[in-house]
Amino acid sequence: MSTIGVGIVGCGFVGRGAHVPAFSSIEGAQLVAVADADPKRLGKVQKKYPLKTAYQDYAELVKDPDIQAVVVSLPTPLHAKASLAAIQAGKHVLCEMPLAANLEDADRLLAAAEKAGVILMPSLNFRFTPNYVRAKAMIDQGVVGRPSSAIYREFISARDLADQWPAGSWMWKLADSGGPLYTLCVWSIDLLRWLFQTEIVEVHSAVKYSPLEKLGGTLGYDAAATVRLANGVVGSLQYSGNVTRVSSTSRLEVVGDSNCLLDATWNDKLTVFGDDPAKTEWNVGEPGPRMWGHQQMDEYFVRCIQQGQTPSITPQDGRRAMEVALQIVQGTK
Ligand SMILES: NC(=O)c1ccc[n+]([C@@H]2O[C@H](COP(=O)([O-])OP(=O)(O)OC[C@H]3O[C@@H](n4cnc5c(N)ncnc54)[C@H](O)[C@@H]3O)[C@@H](O)[C@H]2O)c1
Repeated sequence: MSTIGVGIVGCGFVGRGAHVPAFSSIEGAQLVAVADADPKRLGKVQKKYPLKTAYQDYAELVKDPDIQAVVVSLPTPLHAKASLAAIQAGKHVLCEMPLAANLEDADRLLAAAEKAGVILMPSLNFRFTPNYVRAKAMIDQGVVGRPSSAIYREFISARDLADQWPAGSWMWKLADSGGPLYTLCVWSIDLLRWLFQTEIVEVHSAVKYSPLEKLGGTLGYDAAATVRLANGVVGSLQYSGNVTRVSSTSRLEVVGDSNCLLDATWNDKLTVFGDDPAKTEWNVGEPGPRMWGHQQMDEYFVRCIQQGQTPSITPQDGRRAMEVALQIVQGTK
C-alpha cells in the first residue's frame, strides 16, 4: 500500500503533544513536515523527529508535493482558512475540533471538501479512547439493557488550563474562538451521539463564566446541560474549568433497564456496578498518544486514505457537535 505523506500545521498542545508522535509511528505514513508560526516550536519538533522540512508559513506546507494529508491543529479561529488552503491544494484534511469558530465557516469547509472530493475528518478522538471504545461495545452487547440515561462530567483544573493556554491565549477570547466551554465540550457531545448512534434532539443549559484574576485573566466556566436523544436517552452534561487539580475528573456513567451502571472514568477505567455489592472492573489504559485515542484515530485516517474509503466520522458529525456546543454555551433563555 502506498505511503501517505503527512504535514502537521500547528505544533502546540495537541499538534506536538499528540499528532506529531502519533504520525511518526504509524506504518504506512510518513511525517514529512510541520508548520508553526513560532520558530522555537518548529525547532523542538525538528530536533526530535526526522522531518524533510519545517515551515513557518502553512501556505507553503499545503503546497508541498510530498504531502497528501494535512492535520490542522491551529487555534480554532484559524482552522477554516488553513483547512480551505489544504483542501484547495487537493490534500485530505484531519481538522481539530471545533472545526471552526462558527457554523458559517464550518459550512464553507464542508462544501469545499465535498467539491474537491477529499476527506475532511473532524478530530473526534473520544471515539477511539480505549475505555469509551470498550463502553460502546458493552452497551451494544446489552450490558446495561436498554439505555435510559447518560451522565458525563468533565472537571478540569483552572490551573492546568492556564498552564496549557496562558492568559491572552486564543482559548479565552469568547468573541474570536467561542471560548473554553465551546472548545472543550464538543468531544463529549459527539461521544453521546456515537455511543447511542442517535441524534441529540433537545438541549437545555445554564452557564456561568468567572474571570480568574489570580491566573492572570483566564476564564473559569461552569455549565450544566440536559439533552434528550432521539432514542429517549436523557443526557446530563456537567462541565467545570474552575476546580482544583485534585478534583479534576472525567467520567461517563450509563444507566439502563438491566439495573447495571456502566462507569468509564478518565481514559482507562471501566466499571460495571450490578445489583450485588461486587463490581467488575477493567483497566484498558494505553500509553502516549494512544491514551486518549489520538494515535488510533490518526491511523484510521491514514487507512481511509490508503483504501479510498470514506471515514465513518463525517464532517457533519463535527458540525453537529459544534451546533450543540453553541446551544449549550448560549444557555436556555
Ligand atoms: N483532540 C484533542 O484532544 C484536542 C486537545 C486540545 C486542543 N484541541 C484543539 O486543537 C486546536 C489547537 O489547540 P492547542 O491546544 O494545540 O493550541 P495551542 O495554542 O497549544 O497551539 C497552537 C499552535 O498554533 C501555532 N500558531 C498560531 N497561529 C499560527 C499561524 N498563523 N500559523 C502557524 N502556526 C500558528 C502556535 O504557535 C501554536 O504552536 C484547537 O482547535 C483545540 O480545540 C484538540
